Amino acid sequence: MENETIYILAIESSCDDTSAAVLHNKSVLSNVVATQKIHEEYGGVVPELASRAHQQNIVPVVHQALRKANIDKKLVSAIAFTRGPGLMGSLLVGTSFAKSFAMGLDIPLIEVNHMQAHILAHFIEDDSMIPPTFPFLALTISGGHTQIVLVKDYFDMEILGKTLDDAVGEAFDKSAKILGLPYPGGPLVDKYAQLGNPLAFPFPKPKVNGLNFSFSGLKTSILYFIQRETAKNPDFVSENLNDICASIQFTIIEILMDKVKKAVRQTGVTQIAIGGGVSANSGIRKALKNTEKEIGWKTYIPKFEFCTDNAAMIGIVGFLKFQEKIFTTKDVTAKARYSIGS
Ligand code: KG4
Ligand code: ZN
Repeated sequence: MENETIYILAIESSCDDTSAAVLHNKSVLSNVVATQKIHEEYGGVVPELASRAHQQNIVPVVHQALRKANIDKKLVSAIAFTRGPGLMGSLLVGTSFAKSFAMGLDIPLIEVNHMQAHILAHFIEDDSMIPPTFPFLALTISGGHTQIVLVKDYFDMEILGKTLDDAVGEAFDKSAKILGLPYPGGPLVDKYAQLGNPLAFPFPKPKVNGLNFSFSGLKTSILYFIQRETAKNPDFVSENLNDICASIQFTIIEILMDKVKKAVRQTGVTQIAIGGGVSANSGIRKALKNTEKEIGWKTYIPKFEFCTDNAAMIGIVGFLKFQEKIFTTKDVTAKARYSIGS
């Protein structure tokens, strides 16, 4: 089986990125992502606009992925697609496309859980990445998700904690919006934070039991703080932007790291793999890397293009399921709520 040549065409359309990838076994031949700019005007993802954009993008994105990989669609061994979780209208576009493609070419169809894919992206074969060994803890942090997962095997995962309200990316983006920064503001908060004092303005950390997270209280306390300070000095934000961003980022990272440390204590597992768009954050990368030196953890940070929403991560799950002959029947439907454990 190992030497067999498998080509997987993979589709991701769960939120606002339309993506298609072609994998040759565990290697990525192409990974095309069409990011929908339209949502910037609205300060967040508008579901109806997202599904319309997926509808327009899906065929050209798939063509481009096949062209870049330089393979004919007749060589594709199976098609993998994101079944959920995500926005229903967005998922339907990818699901319908994948089903038609599989039927047209009479090849197997493979459903993929988007959250599992963020974690299994670490197994893509790439010179820049070393895969973790089982068991490891996965911290998936993005605009839509915040989870700590105990990964015992490729398809044996247990969610130890998750957010009870906003995702961590939303906490970054909503804080940025309060500061008047454009959407998505996470990367900008990170940029200014690197120039500021993280201890300038202390924000309270939420008290949440177990390994769950909460970020909505932080957003509210930032809002009240900014309202109070700008009432005294209308230029407060512009005069202190770096320090405000550094303080917000510091608090968010403390919240994340406190729970990861707790998960390590609880499980005894000291291998930590991160995924999701927020893993691009310089502060979280630094905090994780420091644990390698200070407490002997081993941390895994994938290449950025495999952290954000992308079809290559769907493709690697497709390949792993293909090897196990885990296929999906063609009457499968999209699933907006879809837990890793289900
Ligand atoms: O994984 P992703 O591309 O899409 C999903 O949400 O699934 O993640 C996007 C999120 C946004 O909230 C964005 O602000 C955040 O990741 N993000 C960052 C950084 N880069 C992206 N947040 C903080 N620091 C960054 N450098
Ligand atoms: Zn995602």
